[in-house]
Order: sequence, then structure tokens, then C-alpha cells
Amino acid sequence: MSYFRDNIDKTAGYMPGFQPVSTEVIKLNTNENPYPTSPKVLEAIRNVTADQLRRYPNPMGQEFREAAAKVNGVEPENIICTNGGDDLLTIAIRAFCDKNRPLAYPVPTYTLYSVLTELQDCPMIEVPFKKDFALPDELKDTNASLTIVCNPNAPSGTYLPPLVLADFAAKIKGALFVDEAYIDFAPQSCASMVRELDNIIILRTMSKGYSLAGLRFGYGIASTNIIETLMKVKDSYNVDAIAIKAATAAILDQEYFKINVEKIKAERTRLTTILHRLGFEVYDSHSNFLLAKCPGGNGQKFFDELVKRNIFVRYWSSPDLADKLRITVGTPQQNDRLIEALKEIKNK
Ligand SMILES: Cc1ncc(COP(=O)(O)O)c(C=O)c1O
Repeated sequence: MSYFRDNIDKTAGYMPGFQPVSTEVIKLNTNENPYPTSPKVLEAIRNVTADQLRRYPNPMGQEFREAAAKVNGVEPENIICTNGGDDLLTIAIRAFCDKNRPLAYPVPTYTLYSVLTELQDCPMIEVPFKKDFALPDELKDTNASLTIVCNPNAPSGTYLPPLVLADFAAKIKGALFVDEAYIDFAPQSCASMVRELDNIIILRTMSKGYSLAGLRFGYGIASTNIIETLMKVKDSYNVDAIAIKAATAAILDQEYFKINVEKIKAERTRLTTILHRLGFEVYDSHSNFLLAKCPGGNGQKFFDELVKRNIFVRYWSSPDLADKLRITVGTPQQNDRLIEALKEIKNK
């Protein structure tokens, strides 16, 4: 007999994208920002004192809550700091779901949701997106305690306007969790909805637009009632003293953030146009990556050939994604190398 709970034994766990050790490779596989974070972040880290490290951090990351509230037009009480956005997903699923309280989400989407469901041992209701990645009608009728909608969605990059999600939140019985990990690259967030709707939670991360994937800092935005409940579930000190200082400096430097986001959006447009010309079908992306259907339909071949050229993108072998690659938008130079490689592979 195993020492572990059955559901833990059965789950394979989450498989993160490959992290190559060499810095020589072109890494377009985990949707990191290709540009460095704000110099003000490094300065904030350098200014951390031994005394700040000796003591436990503020348990709520109050300094960051205040900065994030200002940026998002809400109150600090509407913010919870988390150890990356993934920590907020874990906290929410622990808070809302159990054997009698299912989790629902449209698929294909971020594969961590199914892993966290297995760990929590709660029923999982996966409803396929419509062909154009519109919300499936049946999703509102699942009676799930928590429904996650990833917006912009990963891996498609497609985007739903806030009005669609507000309408959805008003129709469901449970809570709506909008995973806005990629909202920095999209037209509009659902953040202002938390003022009127008491059943909506929004995930944000500092990993993408703010170039801080290595820091591990995310946050949630929701009604004060939801935030107070999520606070009961989180680890006491789930964000550390250095991370609070660094993330606060990053979110306060909106000017630097916006310049980088615009550079990525411009490259997204250029890369999409060139991929179309090369015969790839590309979904309309509002994120920092593209989902591209390969000419000839053999995603594995393109993936393997790119690896041989030290270029890493993301590939899944599941039937709905096996003909596609997910490509993070890189710098112009990285994207040019990718395009040259794709041309070669296509003509092989
Ligand atoms: C859809 C989605 N949600 C949440 C996250 C969590 O990001 P992090 O834990 O780095 O904040 C990611 C990371 O790639 C993601 O793709």
C-alpha cells in the first residue's frame, strides 16, 4: 500500500516548460518577457537591509497592496499578494473546491488547472471552447463552485471583452476566477468589475509584463469579502521581504512597463504577419505569445527541428494541439532567427 493519498499517487504533476541551462539558446517556450525588468527593481533589491531580512516580512505585503491598488483603481483591501500567480490558483482552489464543490473551466487552457484539481481531489468539469475560442454556452450551467476562465487564454492567446465575462459572472451560481496572467498585452482588464460583483476573482502576475518570472510574485483582485477569506487559506508569509520591495518598485514604474509591453505588441504583429506568409495559421493573439498551426500539420517535426537549431518553443502532443506550436514573442533579433529557421524547416 502507498503512503500517499490515492489522488496524489495518480496525478503526474505539472510539467513546466523546459528551462535550458545555456544562455546561448533562443528561449521562446515559457512566455517570459525578453527584456530586463526596470532598473528601479534592481535598485530596490540592492537597498534591502540585513534588518529587513532578519525580520519576518509584512504578512500581507501591504506596501505592494497599496501600489497595486493605485495602479488598478481599487482599494488595498481588494488585493492579496501571492507567491506568483500559481500560488493564487492553489489558494483559490483550496478555498472553493472539495469533493462536493467542483471546479469548471473551458479547454484547451493552462494545464495547471487540471493538476491542481487532482491534488485537491475535487470534481473537474472541462468544457471545450467553441471553435473560435468563444465561451461555450454550457459553461454557465455546470453548477461549479469555481469556474476559471483564462483571459487572454493560454495557449490560444485569444481574448474575451470584460462585458462578456461580467455577463457570465452574473449568470453562474458559483464564483468566477479570471486568470489575467497575460492581460498586460490585451485591451482591458476585468479589475473594475470587483466593485460591483462579489463573485469574481482576478489573477495577476509580475512574471510577464514586468519581466519578473524569477522573482515569483503575483496578486489577486476581488471583493473584500473574498480577499479576507483567501487570506485565511494562504501561507502566513507567502511573499518574502525582497520580493515585496522588488514587485512594488516594478509596478510603480508604469512608464518603463508600458514601453516594454508596446515593443512586444509591435513584434507580435510583425511575427503574426510573417508566419501567415510562411503558411502558418495563427490565432488572433492578445498575449505575449502566438499559437500557430504548422503548414503540413506536423507540429512535432517543427519543434524537433527548432531544438536542433537551439530554438525552444512549446509543443503539446494532445490531439487538439499536435499540429501547433506556441511561440513566445521575443526580441526582433530572436524573432528573426526563429523566422529563418522556420523557413528552412518548411522547405526541408
Ligand atoms: C495562464 C497562466 N496563469 C498563471 C500563470 C502563473 O504565472 P506565475 O506563477 O509565474 O505568476 C501562468 C504562467 O505562465 C500562466 O500561463
